[in-house]
Amino acid sequence: MAKNDKTSDALVASSVDSSIELGTAVVAPEQFENPGLPAHRARITDIDPKRMKRAERIVYSLFYASILGSVFAVFAYMYFPITSDANAVHSVRLNTLYIGLGIAFALLAIGIAAVHWGKAVMADHEGVDHRHPVRGTDETRARAVEIFQEADAESGFSRRTLIRNSMIGAFIAFPLPAVALFRGLAPMNEDPNTLMKHTVWAKGVRLAHDPTGRPIKAQDVTIGSAFQVIPAGLEALPEHEKLDAKAKAAVLLVRLKPEDLKWSSPEREAWSYQGIVAYSKICTHVGCPVALYEQQTHHLLCPCHQSQFDISNESAVIFGPAARPLPQLPIYVDDEGYLCAQSDFTEPVGPSFWERSK
Ligand code: FES
Repeated sequence: MAKNDKTSDALVASSVDSSIELGTAVVAPEQFENPGLPAHRARITDIDPKRMKRAERIVYSLFYASILGSVFAVFAYMYFPITSDANAVHSVRLNTLYIGLGIAFALLAIGIAAVHWGKAVMADHEGVDHRHPVRGTDETRARAVEIFQEADAESGFSRRTLIRNSMIGAFIAFPLPAVALFRGLAPMNEDPNTLMKHTVWAKGVRLAHDPTGRPIKAQDVTIGSAFQVIPAGLEALPEHEKLDAKAKAAVLLVRLKPEDLKWSSPEREAWSYQGIVAYSKICTHVGCPVALYEQQTHHLLCPCHQSQFDISNESAVIFGPAARPLPQLPIYVDDEGYLCAQSDFTEPVGPSFWERSK
């Protein structure tokens, strides 16, 4: 036994830094003593009732200010509407700015009020809460109820009615801007057909290359070719109307052998010229540009959800989710040999929603 002690002493000695004298090492305890909580310092609002009143005033004023912020956002929605005229971009900026400011102010005021309420008005004392098993005992649950009651008593939630009511008001008012914004998704009074039924195509408007705007002569369209087409003269439109007009009027021009074209509606044959046909490029599913033309099969593929249209058969849907054929643009050739529109489309372009609501 004595030999063993000597051996372990020797090991300890060899593991200790040679600069430390033997017998002076400090052995750290395994557990430090709990230093406890620092001495409690009363807040100014605990000592001075006037300061407490003032803190209360600040809290409920902030909640009321939050209500104002929310109401401001609703008014901003009404007084700074998004327009579609020449000031469209400016109107979007104003609308976003003021609605955003209102909502941000409302949230900020609620946040500051909550923090100030907790720091200056609610009871201030330190407590120790030990960890418990996840499911508390019945006593624990009863204690939880007590804690809620204590919290209610200490925060003055039931007693300080001005703060409580203003806070409830702030929380009720805060979602109001969202309600106002969702109004924008409600059905329009305007007939939806007017939006997509009319495009800038009209009798005599020449078909032009996209994007050059150069008019197309029938003789330039060889069998098997496909052109992306826009109405000639589009560049003369004001800048804010141009993109809209171009998006709705986009057309795909294709030439097939006349004998390859099948016409279920005989009058449509007169809408083509020697095998040249023009169809809207906007998919009737949800509006993607349909521009993948398969020359051998005469099929037109929409890359979004794979709808396929048969150009040789009035662009009938042969596959995919599109519910109706692509609208056809009636065309003819003028005295100078240029391809022109006979009229606008005879049905709304784009997703089928517009067509169904006729
Ligand atoms: Fe063309 Fe869906 S948008 S298939």
